[in-house]
Amino acid sequence: MHDIVQAYYGRQLQHSDDLRTSACCDISQIPAWLKPLLGRIHPEVLSRYYGCGLVCPPLLEGRRLLDLGCGSGRDVYALAQLVGPTGEVVGVDMTDEQLAVAEKHRAFHADAFGYDNVRFVHGYIERLDELDLEPGSFDVIVSNCVVNLSPDKDAVLRGVQRLLKDGGEFYFSDVYADRRVPAAVRNDPVLYGECLGGALYWNDFLSLAQRQGFADPRLVTDRTLAITDPELAPRVGNLRFFSATYRLFKLDGLESACEDYGQAVIYRGSIPDWADRFVLDKHHDIEAGRVFPVCGNTWRMLQRTRFAAHFDFIGDFSRHYGLFAGCSDDLPLEPARNTEGSSACC
Ligand SMILES: C[S@@+](CC[C@H](N)C(=O)[O-])C[C@H]1O[C@@H](n2cnc3c(N)ncnc32)[C@H](O)[C@@H]1O
Repeated sequence: MHDIVQAYYGRQLQHSDDLRTSACCDISQIPAWLKPLLGRIHPEVLSRYYGCGLVCPPLLEGRRLLDLGCGSGRDVYALAQLVGPTGEVVGVDMTDEQLAVAEKHRAFHADAFGYDNVRFVHGYIERLDELDLEPGSFDVIVSNCVVNLSPDKDAVLRGVQRLLKDGGEFYFSDVYADRRVPAAVRNDPVLYGECLGGALYWNDFLSLAQRQGFADPRLVTDRTLAITDPELAPRVGNLRFFSATYRLFKLDGLESACEDYGQAVIYRGSIPDWADRFVLDKHHDIEAGRVFPVCGNTWRMLQRTRFAAHFDFIGDFSRHYGLFAGCSDDLPLEPARNTEGSSACC
């Protein structure tokens, strides 16, 4: 599978528009605050973007970040501006041609930003322990449409666990299916390269994350992917695909379910660009200044991470009240009401 993927992203694709599932980079989906950052990125890097989501969580200044499958570096160069001169972003990729583009424009970006805080490393995301990366040294690890391409996803998450600091998070966008992908789709080289064949059934992903020590994966955003290519659509049949962004915190003590200890938080409104609300995930849109009841896991995700200084915390773990109301095992990814015109790339 590595060879197929390297050939696809190294030689076959030259430009985002060459993807056959649907085009990404719909300018209307890019938040206003990100546009000036992308405006400073070299056009050749932008033109080779194959991501399927937004991997820029808040509060990154001064942090150490790692981008798994960084490609030609669009996200690395965007994140480099968010971490600033005191932070660092390392990009890992296995495809020489992609890394060559990223490296080629490094001086251009150092000049545009006024500092050089990025590093690109050739390597496989299943074998992160072979790279010169110190265990427990990253605040945030991101990835944009890459994990689905890996033949050993357990190894990827194991490596992520090893490299994250305590309280750090894996914040990544990827493609998921509404059921297990049948062998005919999985073994189709084009569907695999297009990030569909290797996509995990969403519930298998949740099990995998839990198996690798991420007890409570949080879905941040999701959208339905439209397979509009007339040759590819019949090959996927009734399968439905989603692009989704999850955040996985490395935290001891997270429980497999949301348990109620009668706790609550109040958001101070102090995170830059998030004065009115802080969105932890799809179910936690926390308005500033308001008492917001939370389960024990959410409490830990806010109290033992870089977000702690921005919240007041009410309660403790001394009393248990059962399962936190509103937790559900249903399909977390929402089928789009109207998929026409929806797009995502990988
Ligand atoms: C769909 S592209 C996404 C690239 C980049 N994240 C972006 O948003 O433009 C997938 C990238 O992941 C890299 N990749 C896929 N599998 C990999 C693996 N097992 N180890 C390292 N890199 C991998 C490919 O070389 C390619 O650059």
